[in-house]
Amino acid sequence: MLRILILEDSPLDAELVGARLSEGEIGCELVRVQSRDAFAAALEEGGVDLILADYVLPGFDGLSALSLAKELCPSVPFIFVSGTLGEEVAIETLKSGATDYVLKHRLERLLPAVRRAMREAEERWERERALQNLEKRLLGAKEEERRRVAYEVHDGLAQVALAAHQNLQAFARRYAPETEQGRRELDRILGQVRSTVSDTRRVIANLRPTALDDLGLAAAIALEVERLSEEGYHVACEEHLGDERLPREMELALFRVAQEALTNIRKHADTKWLKIELRRLDGEVYLAVRDFGHGFDPAALEMLGGKPGERIGFAGMRERVGMLGGDLEIQSRAEAGTFVAAIIPLIRTA
Ligand SMILES: Nc1ncnc2c1ncn2[C@@H]1O[C@H](COP(=O)(O)OP(=O)(O)OP(=O)(O)O)[C@@H](O)[C@H]1O
Ligand SMILES: [Mg+2]
Repeated sequence: MLRILILEDSPLDAELVGARLSEGEIGCELVRVQSRDAFAAALEEGGVDLILADYVLPGFDGLSALSLAKELCPSVPFIFVSGTLGEEVAIETLKSGATDYVLKHRLERLLPAVRRAMREAEERWERERALQNLEKRLLGAKEEERRRVAYEVHDGLAQVALAAHQNLQAFARRYAPETEQGRRELDRILGQVRSTVSDTRRVIANLRPTALDDLGLAAAIALEVERLSEEGYHVACEEHLGDERLPREMELALFRVAQEALTNIRKHADTKWLKIELRRLDGEVYLAVRDFGHGFDPAALEMLGGKPGERIGFAGMRERVGMLGGDLEIQSRAEAGTFVAAIIPLIRTA
């Protein structure tokens, strides 16, 4: 059942349109409005599948209605059904984004126009869905690849580094250096190998947050906070997620957002003070990372653009959050710090 919004001041004309539609067996609910306010209210309420609009109305006009519709619901097809429409005006309406126009004295064109508009809308929707699916699959593949690399590094490089450290210690015990300088040098080498081991661990943890898999978002964030504190950061952390685990996709998205926001703070913010908030709200989950560093100008950032592969942090956050139907907000001002917040609706996907 289609929900068709008809912007028409004449009840009789609306009735004629309704009769045509039912003749063509287009199952629909016809909602008639005749003022700007009622039109806007109906669009804001949502659920409209098609808009039919008169071109000339008392106190409102078709082109304004069209631009309002393009703003509020750009994907809903819009057909002018009008008494008079010169050729030039008709072309103008199509240029402005109308899907089609039908003249009232040639109402036999209404059915084919509606059918075509609905078919095209359906096709567009299908394409969008396919694209979204593809994006989701790509992101899944990316995580899968990270997981694979994490295992490789863990089983290869990490084991070798650890063995080298242990062997070196054993060697040093057996052939202890006799001079002070020899001992100092050995300590330095041991230190190097030790930091290779801890670097490797850090790489693995970044690639595959095992704590996230095993213990959930709150625990994984707590570990990040611990790591930051060790690096000398002062982190205020407020976590109200409750005991129940979130859907896996959502945990991963929020964790990656937090991870990128924290990396950005390390890289750009030039402050040791920050705050992380995690909350389960009514049907939504909210994550915010705020720092008190020197901030940046978001408008200037947009102007700067970036070479491929550069400044993909925020874009990646947007993509992950958007894919789960959520919103990302970034606020920043020079010398006032940066605020990054993600809010994702809690729909059980998996
Ligand atoms: N917390 C912050 N404090 C100050 N500036 C920031 C902060 N976060 C981001 N920025 C600014 O915004 C820019 C874009 O951030 P984004 O994460 O998208 O890219 P990036 O960190 O430069 O590179 P990467 O692709 O490795 O993430 C940064 O280059 C930096 O100038
Ligand atoms: Mg970044």
